Amino acid sequence: MRIILIGFMGSGKTTIAKALAHDLGFKFIDIDAEVEKSEQKTIANIFEVNGEEYFRKIETNELKKLIDKKFIVVASGGGTPCSESNIEFIKNNFTSVFLNVDSEQLLTRLKKKGNKRPLIIESKNIDNTVLALLQKRMIFYNQADIIIDIIDSNTKTVVNEIMSKL
Ligand code: S3P
Repeated sequence: MRIILIGFMGSGKTTIAKALAHDLGFKFIDIDAEVEKSEQKTIANIFEVNGEEYFRKIETNELKKLIDKKFIVVASGGGTPCSESNIEFIKNNFTSVFLNVDSEQLLTRLKKKGNKRPLIIESKNIDNTVLALLQKRMIFYNQADIIIDIIDSNTKTVVNEIMSKL
């Protein structure tokens, strides 16, 4: 079994995927971390030096490599499922879980100090950027097998809800 968490930046994919992997006894994999490892650069650096299009290619490569693995819980990047080919690949090879956090909560989380996400720090108007991206991406996120509407963002609560729906 392969599980992948999808959803917008700041929706808690990494935290929840780690905890879910722990509870299931599966391996945790973070696509952003895999990209950074293979490129030997931070995500911010890849965006700056090579551009977003290049980043998307590496991100897709790392997603596709996971076909060789079983018993994994994957934290995707916010944009990972947002192309026809990647969402199809996810639907064919993973049990997908969309962490649906409302835009207000996302904005609060993303505006916190220390945010290093290039799409956010390079934006002149974070509200507009987030709302526009979210609108474009919901069509992909909504194709997940399981949709979790995050109201109480307590990790244990969310993990238990996912486990009950697997
Ligand atoms: C991105 C989300 C980030 C990272 C990159 C691009 C996006 O991952 O992959 O900055 O396009 O939404 P997180 O969702 O883990 O922040």
